[in-house]
Amino acid sequence: MTKKIAVLPGDGIGPEIVAEAVKVLECLKRDYGFSFEIEEGLIGGAAIDETGGPLPESTLKLSKDADAIILGAVGGYKWESLDISIRPEKGLLGLRSELSLFSNLRPAILYPQLAAASTLKPEVVSGLDLMIVRELTGGIYFGQPRGVRTLDNGEKQGYNTLIYKESEIERIGRSAFEIAQKRNRKLCSVDKANVLECTELWRETMTELSKEYPDVELSHMYVDNAAMQLVRAPKQFDVMVTTNMFGDILSDCAAMLTGSIGMLPSASLNAQNQGMYEPIHGSAPDIAGKGIANPIATILSVSMMLRYSLDEPGLADNIDKAVNDVLDKNLRTADIYTEGSKKVATEEMGDAIVAAMKKNMWDSAGGIGNPEECARSGGMSNDEY
Ligand code: IPM
Ligand code: MG
Repeated sequence: MTKKIAVLPGDGIGPEIVAEAVKVLECLKRDYGFSFEIEEGLIGGAAIDETGGPLPESTLKLSKDADAIILGAVGGYKWESLDISIRPEKGLLGLRSELSLFSNLRPAILYPQLAAASTLKPEVVSGLDLMIVRELTGGIYFGQPRGVRTLDNGEKQGYNTLIYKESEIERIGRSAFEIAQKRNRKLCSVDKANVLECTELWRETMTELSKEYPDVELSHMYVDNAAMQLVRAPKQFDVMVTTNMFGDILSDCAAMLTGSIGMLPSASLNAQNQGMYEPIHGSAPDIAGKGIANPIATILSVSMMLRYSLDEPGLADNIDKAVNDVLDKNLRTADIYTEGSKKVATEEMGDAIVAAMKKNMWDSAGGIGNPEECARSGGMSNDEY
């Protein structure tokens, strides 16, 4: 059946990296017979400029009707002075909330080829493979009341509300326990239960839920300690589950363990496994338009989409292998460049990954593809692949 994929490039480097992800999808269509239709939509600042708001009705409809969504990034200097309620980020948050994408999976995997690109010692990070499960539609990001008010003495006061219902904690807990069951069956729940009542409830609910998953070893950790442990000894973790804001912060921290935030994909799933797939990095306005952004996080997001929403694990494996292959070939975008490797631009990295996918297919299927044609359209010489 033809799958419908909504593609929302967004702002900053978003359009550049999404273009490379689309090349990968087109390769899957042309060479692997994967049948899909793409429809593009506006989101974030690009949508504000065209329509006045960050999440137009048409984008919401397109996203709701799609089997899966690929998103680039939102935000930029241009829109920073707008009221917070209509900023580009609200488009992304609105989409997460409207589609009930409560379960955000953020894998942090260190490719061995990038051990030297991490700011941490290779022995601390080598072999790292952890999964952060972030609650995505609740907590302080969405809690009411919120705002800035003026007190009687004329002073302004800002306020937000950290709020979770048991049912919200339970459903993200289930996602995390189920993921842990498929991995090394170790789950660390991160909270601040020594200070915040809301996360005391989080801890109690996780503990209660753990009775249904006796095969998973549950532990608890305060978020400040978790941040420290992530840079001290990250390999102690298998799966971490945490609130929306703690997950936002810890996943950026985990990203640096892998060498660059430009390597990390994410999946945001609802109860029906419909998902939005995006790199965890932002729109990087400082390098937008320069053609130097790393497209790998977005390309790996396509792989996650095939695995989690579109039931095509074989195609996902192929993308993952192709990424591995180009890293083996020592190709690096600027963010993961280390001396002695070959620095490539965004497009070159995308082309190299497509070429590696075709080469893999040709190798494994005994000649269904044509390696010369692969190399040509992948932009690589045949010698290199
Ligand atoms: C992320 C981002 C977003 C978030 C921003 C862009 C709203 O930092 O996906 O981690 O805070 O969730
Ligand atoms: Mg973030």
